[in-house]
Amino acid sequence: NDLKRDSRGALIVLEGLDRCGKTSQCARLLSTLEGLGYSVESWRFPDRTTGVGRMISSYLSNQSQLDDHAIHLLFSANRWEKRSLMEAKLMSGTTLIVDRYSYSGVAFSSAKGLDFQWCKAPEVGLLAPDLVVYLDISPEKAAERGGYGGERYEQLEFQKKVAESYKKLIDTSWKTVDATLPIEDIEKHLKEITLECIVECQKGKSLSQLWP
Ligand code: TYD
Repeated sequence: NDLKRDSRGALIVLEGLDRCGKTSQCARLLSTLEGLGYSVESWRFPDRTTGVGRMISSYLSNQSQLDDHAIHLLFSANRWEKRSLMEAKLMSGTTLIVDRYSYSGVAFSSAKGLDFQWCKAPEVGLLAPDLVVYLDISPEKAAERGGYGGERYEQLEFQKKVAESYKKLIDTSWKTVDATLPIEDIEKHLKEITLECIVECQKGKSLSQLWP
């Protein structure tokens, strides 16, 4: 338990298409880790509670129009405004489970046709996750789940492009989990890989920055 107290928390990110099940898995993971006695918080991007977040929210619900580059930079700014708090939490030993991060930023904006490298640039210097989990589902299967809330990006044709962009971002350090498995199986798998990652961080793995 000394180890638990003195070491840093892990930065764990879940990514995937809309309706892949990220949000409910984040909630389950949070309560599992809390139950095991870890200091843990669940975060999400966009964080719609900030001033920048409210601009993003208004854009996503089609209440305002913005140039594609401008909204990209707002999504990035929304992560930058949380960076120092994120670092402080991690260094004080709290593990963060984050629903979407810079990878969503790049995947969604580049799916609109923005240059891939240009999309990555504003993310340079944000904290690099210790673990990225990709909840893998085909755009067609995700669309079948229904419940697209009618926000700007929740359309099959667009999600197909996002899936292609994610493929360009996925590297060997990511863990891909089949998002069509039963909920309990996904939960079990996530628990295992998350605990492995938390232990590595406790053992002294250092925090790094994007893009490693
Ligand atoms: P999110 O709040 O996760 O969706 P939901 O309200 O359905 O739970 O994300 C909103 C949308 O914003 C989602 O379609 C992905 C997109 N997005 C970006 O385009 N760029 C980003 O940087 C992020 C974090 C999300």
